[in-house]
Amino acid sequence: MNKITIAIDGFSSTGKSTIAKQLAQKLHYIYVDTGAMYRAVTLYAMQHEYINECYFYKDKLIENLNKINLTFHFNDKLGFAEIFLNSVNVENDIRTLEVSNFVSKIAEVPEVRKKLVEQQQELGKNKGVVMDGRDIGTVVFPNAELKFFITASADKRAKRRFDELIKKGDKVTYNEILKNVESRDHIDSTREDSPLVKADDAIEIDNSDLTLTEQFDKIYRIVQHKL
Ligand code: C5P
Repeated sequence: MNKITIAIDGFSSTGKSTIAKQLAQKLHYIYVDTGAMYRAVTLYAMQHEYINECYFYKDKLIENLNKINLTFHFNDKLGFAEIFLNSVNVENDIRTLEVSNFVSKIAEVPEVRKKLVEQQQELGKNKGVVMDGRDIGTVVFPNAELKFFITASADKRAKRRFDELIKKGDKVTYNEILKNVESRDHIDSTREDSPLVKADDAIEIDNSDLTLTEQFDKIYRIVQHKL
């Protein structure tokens, strides 16, 4: 069957990665979580003390970008690829609120974006890929055959992310999460380089009131028309 590129963009915590993983499994496509790549660079910057609450040594990060090697390795049990930072599995470490609080600052840096976009384009060059992020349909694959733009109210998104982190045992409050979601939306949408915007040809899906099954059915119907 004809393989296509599916771009899924949208605001923070809209469940983009859940949809992308489901689609990739169903279609036997590669799934690429580009947010995980920005998060892994953020983790590296935190580990090397280039960023904290008081400062961000952007030049240091840029100088050392070539020391950051990101790879994905498929985990059979999970059914998707996990991200490795310099050969270490960081799939869990990149999902903390601390990383979430710094990641949008890191993602504003054009040199970081250039490096990651190049790798994303390489990963998806043979099509048969579902990629989720903020700029996939606008910058990474502007010619993707199918583009979705996922939205939901900030309150719904914060509640979902809060439940997820609490389930994992993280000590967080709902208000902290809401603040993080709103602040990332703002930085991501207003940055100069590749801001989060809906591509003209993207199909918008508001999943505030959809169950996961309803959402998947709706999106999968659209995908089937394209194949
Ligand atoms: O998707 P996720 O919430 O894990 O992404 C984390 C952050 O990475 C986003 O808030 C955004 O700042 C950045 N990002 C980006 N471009 C992408 C994917 C993520 O700027 N394609």
